[in-house]
Amino acid sequence: MRKQNFLFDKMTVGVCYYPEHWDRALWESDIKRMLENGITVVRIAEFAWNKFENEEGVFNFDFFDDFLDVCEKLGMKVIFGTPTATPPAWLTEKYPEVLNARQDGALYRHGGRRHYNYNSPLYRLFCARIVEKIADHYAKRPSIIGWQIDNELNCEISGFYSQSDTVAFREFLKKKYETLDRLNEAWGTVFWNQTYTKWDQIFVPRAPNINAVNPHLNLDYIRFVSQSAISFCALQSDILRKYIKPGDFITTNGLFGNLDNHEMTDKCLDIYTYDSYPNFAYGVDSVWDDNALSDRRWSRNLTEVRSICPHFGVMEQQSGANGWSTRMEAAAPRPGQLNLWALQSVAHGADFVSFFRWRTAAFGTEMYWHGILDYDNRDNRRLSEVRLFADNLKKLEKIRGSKFYAKVAYVKDYDNEWDSTFDVWHSRVSRASDAGIVEGLQFGHVPYDVVYLKDETLVSELAEYDVLIYPHPLIINEARISVLKEYVENGGKLVIGCRAGQKDMTGKCPMLPMPGLFSCLSGSDVIDFTFQSPAEKVPKVSFGNRELEAKVFCDIMEAKEGAKVLASYSGCFFEGRAALIEKEVGCGKVLHYGSTFTRDSVQAIMEYLGVLETFDEIVTLPGDIELVLRENEGRKYVFLLNYKHRKVEAKVNVRTRSLLTGKEVSGDITLEKFAVEVLEVL
Ligand code: GAL
Repeated sequence: MRKQNFLFDKMTVGVCYYPEHWDRALWESDIKRMLENGITVVRIAEFAWNKFENEEGVFNFDFFDDFLDVCEKLGMKVIFGTPTATPPAWLTEKYPEVLNARQDGALYRHGGRRHYNYNSPLYRLFCARIVEKIADHYAKRPSIIGWQIDNELNCEISGFYSQSDTVAFREFLKKKYETLDRLNEAWGTVFWNQTYTKWDQIFVPRAPNINAVNPHLNLDYIRFVSQSAISFCALQSDILRKYIKPGDFITTNGLFGNLDNHEMTDKCLDIYTYDSYPNFAYGVDSVWDDNALSDRRWSRNLTEVRSICPHFGVMEQQSGANGWSTRMEAAAPRPGQLNLWALQSVAHGADFVSFFRWRTAAFGTEMYWHGILDYDNRDNRRLSEVRLFADNLKKLEKIRGSKFYAKVAYVKDYDNEWDSTFDVWHSRVSRASDAGIVEGLQFGHVPYDVVYLKDETLVSELAEYDVLIYPHPLIINEARISVLKEYVENGGKLVIGCRAGQKDMTGKCPMLPMPGLFSCLSGSDVIDFTFQSPAEKVPKVSFGNRELEAKVFCDIMEAKEGAKVLASYSGCFFEGRAALIEKEVGCGKVLHYGSTFTRDSVQAIMEYLGVLETFDEIVTLPGDIELVLRENEGRKYVFLLNYKHRKVEAKVNVRTRSLLTGKEVSGDITLEKFAVEVLEVL
């Protein structure tokens, strides 16, 4: 399990509040009403730079001092945000070099947010100064319990193309490659005559270009963006550390692309927080498709967050319909969904859930992004549901800090994740398998963790899992192969999919038979491969008692000595060729499946490996219900979450007690629509 610097000392409910959006006359009644409804923390100030520095170099702290006075009088706790996501107009007008640019060099203009670049030396100076001033002034206030850096680093935009970025990119590359010869070699610049003879010929990817940016440059560019975001976060956390009270925490809220969130958390944060808006899932699945994950799909993101920080916070939990005046339309959460979604966060590891936002903004771009209260400020059903959730949370104290049970890990790494953002072959297989893995494991009641593999990963971090599924590690190196080998030799089971081992760390293709470096583990030899043609039928693979579809892509394989073929393709030009190969390695084994993973193929393989539907001793569940198991000091706690817009039946096969009702539960049970049950196994 990853290290955790900060744990909440009790299950906590919060809310995002913008004192600058409301008449001061409302502050006191708002805070009182929050407290009456179980909300004990507010997050404030993350977009309010002008309230501290309305003119360059002229500082004033009265506004938030007055607000903190109210909080302190009434007993409200505060998470204070640094306001760097929205630089003031005086700053961006006078110093346009702080602005981020599009790939064609056009600058982003004032009026939105996150229009700055991380690398402008001047912006970094302004940010360092405002953070220092704020921390110096407010850090000792007793109401403050934590600090949020900026807001959603890399959200809205995760590409940076300003002058300062190009300058910083060159420095990043000089450090990495030292000489242009090495860089030219790593990027294969001999192709299409891209060879660089001076460092200042190198730029961040520029537009317009004719359909082509060097893929190896692109991969390094994303690594650079990630480093830039981390260094911007570190700039602020280093300052905050000098001022914050002992016991207060530093966080930032995520989860966004082109950013190694694990490294950022290790370097800069005490706890990672996530912004959870499950309503977005309805853009992917329709409510009417009974076979779809819909909002349950959000558990995928929460699992990812848990991999960064086992006991995280949710800084923004959906409380109303999504919407901006410029984009997005969405339904209001149905009665019950607000409580369900907040408990989904808790089930997956959140000990702090803060709703976005107390009251819907009455003006501005986000006036359709609904909060708990509407513009009319009357009590409403959403407020009652927040109250219900707060009451529920009090009863879940035993869950706080408890371990998420998982015997399967979905292995990822940033190099492959980033490569797949621009390599279309890579992204097609990865996206298909991601859906298949998440659905297969969810519907098959296989609780899983996500593990990010790095060169430094220790075998002890993998050893707690019986099965690792590492679907498409196109990019791989010796260090990662070596830890996987040790894991398997010690009895672990590793599953890989098509295209494994295709590339090295630069994103180039080594002249090796595929699966490249994996060959020593997998016993498979990829003799040919192909995308699926829409003009042909999807090849079939019969395995166990299932007929699987080998969708999107197929590695056409042969087993090498010591490996065995578990299943073959049919209905295609490579009829009879191996589709699934197994090789025993030490006390464990490696399975190479030649295609992408579908819900069915994941379940077939998990069944074969003995990790599908293993909870019958405790509960018998239809696929409709999400199962989460948490363990604390030898006790087991089972979350059952019903996302369906209808009731679902299940059966509890042991004696349990509901933490929510206090009643003993066993035998047949009905979970009403959007209901959650949390059972302690007695
Ligand atoms: C989040 C963001 C909030 C607010 C919310 C609704 O991504 O952190 O500041 O913008 O979305 O759009």
